[in-house]
Amino acid sequence: MAPPGILNRYLLLMAQEHLEFRLPVSPQYRPLLLAGDDGAEIKSLLSLFGGQFISSQETYGKSPFWILSIPSEDIARNLMKRTVCAKSIFELWGHGKCPEELYSSLKNYPAEKMVPFLHSDSTYKIKIHTFNKTLTQEEKVKRIDALEFLPFEGKVNLKKPQHVFSILEDYGLDPNHIPENPHNIYFGRWIADGQRELIESYSVKKRHFIGNTSMDAGLSFIMANHGKVKKNDIVFDPFVGTGGLLIASAHFGAYVYGTDIDYNTVHGLGKASRKNQKWRGPDENIRANLRQYGLEKYYLDVLVSDASKPSWRKGTYFDAIITDPPYGIRESTRRTGSQKEIPKGIEKCPESHVPVSLSYHLSDMFFDLLNFSAETLVLGGRLVYWLPVYTPEYTEEMVPWHPCLKLISNCEQKLSSHTSRRLITMEKVKEFEVWTDRHPECEKPMEQAQKTAQQTVEYSRANLDSGCKFEEQKILA
Ligand SMILES: C[S@@+](CC[C@H](N)C(=O)[O-])C[C@H]1O[C@@H](n2cnc3c(N)ncnc32)[C@H](O)[C@@H]1O
Repeated sequence: MAPPGILNRYLLLMAQEHLEFRLPVSPQYRPLLLAGDDGAEIKSLLSLFGGQFISSQETYGKSPFWILSIPSEDIARNLMKRTVCAKSIFELWGHGKCPEELYSSLKNYPAEKMVPFLHSDSTYKIKIHTFNKTLTQEEKVKRIDALEFLPFEGKVNLKKPQHVFSILEDYGLDPNHIPENPHNIYFGRWIADGQRELIESYSVKKRHFIGNTSMDAGLSFIMANHGKVKKNDIVFDPFVGTGGLLIASAHFGAYVYGTDIDYNTVHGLGKASRKNQKWRGPDENIRANLRQYGLEKYYLDVLVSDASKPSWRKGTYFDAIITDPPYGIRESTRRTGSQKEIPKGIEKCPESHVPVSLSYHLSDMFFDLLNFSAETLVLGGRLVYWLPVYTPEYTEEMVPWHPCLKLISNCEQKLSSHTSRRLITMEKVKEFEVWTDRHPECEKPMEQAQKTAQQTVEYSRANLDSGCKFEEQKILA
């Protein structure tokens, strides 16, 4: 382990999926961000475990190879117990643009850092990882043989080695132009793998209770990581739906709670979302989902409640609010109302009931969400939510803001050529004060969001890989 104050260099091998959630925010936003915590999943996790995102690498672009400085191997291991964006982490012993550069960098790596892993009682194995090229067995053996100058004294054990080393070669991102020689070559000691298998084991396809808008497992874990959810936290989702976001937080040991305006969803009643099933079964509900994954003890409750009229006493209750608000296509944006609230000019239906369902304008919804979060989050607690965006007109000034909440990251997920949704992460940095003064720009994305909603239909259709039926609903707002 590095002596205190000395940062070891590590190599992260990132998964080539959800690239947008790995990248830092745009330079324009950096001054608004918290020092040392200005990015997405890896940065949030490092700040959770007491590390900072420090890197000499100028740009990450879409490369799967990231060089980071981390204070200790323990922090690196903790990071890997949480990340779904990174595949593996290595202690970086050498790096070069060609084999000669790699070898000279390895020769400069302090011998005292290598020896504990190379001594005669140890067993080891060397693996080769190439990105964007496949090597023959002969080429692989050649590369391993070329490392003979390293003081390996242990025995090779291919099945159960104590230490695993890797040569990682980067042939760039263009599958149509694969260079003869790699752009970069790395050598490192493997430390740990990330949590990519969670994406499969928590897949919505195999989940007990699902709806048309159940959040994808990978994104749910990314959101919980952005929210810095940890053991014994209390996490709230005000638009809980089938509780997809609660599951990821409970997996990380947080107690979870949610509300939704839809009685049927909260009680697991009504029409089923799976093909070949008409009605939901007797035990299709959020609690049963948590039970399916052995997480029932983290279930606090879910209630029918309208997010526009939160029924909470004043106070700070939540360590994180993680949510996917409706934007009116696969689920309607609704709120409860009374006859008095129906705007003039709209004829009252004599048969209307009270409470009636009113449209809930998106700008009101995000404004309420930020005010509610600023009031009920603990200091340092995080709000993580999706903001739908009509890309041709989007500017960063349009992201809703609140004086008590600081923007941590703003990552785009493209949905179609004109639409995207942005994963917004904010942190409570000040005691609550009511915020009534809306930024005029904040109204704009909401108008666009209605356009986005319209266009996401196609995307939704293409992405409903969970065997859901697709039921388009009318945009009410
Ligand atoms: C995008 S879905 C959430 C999906 C959820 N993340 C999941 O994994 O199933 C949005 C939810 O917000 C609910 N909703 C709409 N208007 C609401 C309101 N005014 N208050 C509370 N919930 C509302 C809808 O019923 C819907 O279940």
